[in-house]
Amino acid sequence: MRFIALALAVFSVPLVAGCGLRPGYPPNPMLRPTAVTDFATLYNQNCAACHGQNGQNGPSIDLANPEYQALVDDATLRKWISGGMPGTEMPAFAQSAGGMLTSAQVDALIAGMRRNWQRPNAFDGVSPPPYAQAAVGDPVRGQSTYQARCAQCHEPTRDSANQQITSPRYLALVGDQALRTIIIAGRPDIGQPDWRHDSPGGQAAAPLSVVDVDNIVAYLASLRNLGQPAPASTASSHTTPAGR
Ligand code: HEC
Ligand code: HEC
Repeated sequence: MRFIALALAVFSVPLVAGCGLRPGYPPNPMLRPTAVTDFATLYNQNCAACHGQNGQNGPSIDLANPEYQALVDDATLRKWISGGMPGTEMPAFAQSAGGMLTSAQVDALIAGMRRNWQRPNAFDGVSPPPYAQAAVGDPVRGQSTYQARCAQCHEPTRDSANQQITSPRYLALVGDQALRTIIIAGRPDIGQPDWRHDSPGGQAAAPLSVVDVDNIVAYLASLRNLGQPAPASTASSHTTPAGR
């Protein structure tokens, strides 16, 4: 499979790249011609290592989650893919930001994600909290909401495989928007519930409110900042909500 893909890549390069390649010069398949706009090729080469094969079960957020696709708009996708995501390991891919992809390739990735992973009525008619932070959160209230709604699965003392998301070492790698996205849309691939299904053992509980989400993120951000000085981009993303 790998070999076939490689062989195809080598053969297709002169066809799509046109000029610029010396005849007989073996093109490096990693240096993809900027003309490639096939979604599967672009996704597998640039994204799958972190976001998983087919957009799930990777170390980073499952882009194939239909709730995520419904929550985020095209402009936001373009912003993160082009420029990278502050406070996370998400790299910048646009050539304008030092990456390898043209803006047409970024658009092809967005269109492909929509085509493959978007589903109509992903929220079953319910309105989720907005993607972007709505107001400055209250970390003190956020702590009690966290205790009531998250700690049963993420408690530091508990002998569980779940991520210790209150640890500054974890939080140093996850920016505020990334936390917010995961809290709202969930990560069905690894068992993180969305904002509606966060009760222990499936007991009925009210969905998290918009304010709850703001507060929990503010609480987690306050722990990150206690742990070590945050990078400037991360700090400004939650102290100046207007600067998003
Ligand atoms: C080196 C690992 C890495 C690679 C490669 C990578 N990402 Fe990411 N990406 C991340 C991390 C980490 C985050 C932050 C969210 C998280 O922690 O899961 C993220 C976040 C994102 C987000 C924003 C999520 C949100 O909260 O709205 C999008 C969209 C995204 N990535 C798309 C892509 C696409 C498309 C590609 C390929 C062009 C790609 N990523 C490649 C690691 C990566
Ligand atoms: C019913 C149990 C449960 C509840 C309640 C729960 N989580 Fe999780 N969460 C999980 C599981 C399981 C995972 C996936 C395993 C892991 O990474 O810890 C996860 C993963 C996460 C992740 C991603 C960790 C990573 O690997 O990047 C974040 C962030 C997170 N949860 C935050 C929260 C917050 C905030 C709350 C409260 C609003 C919450 N969770 C409530 C079970 C839960």
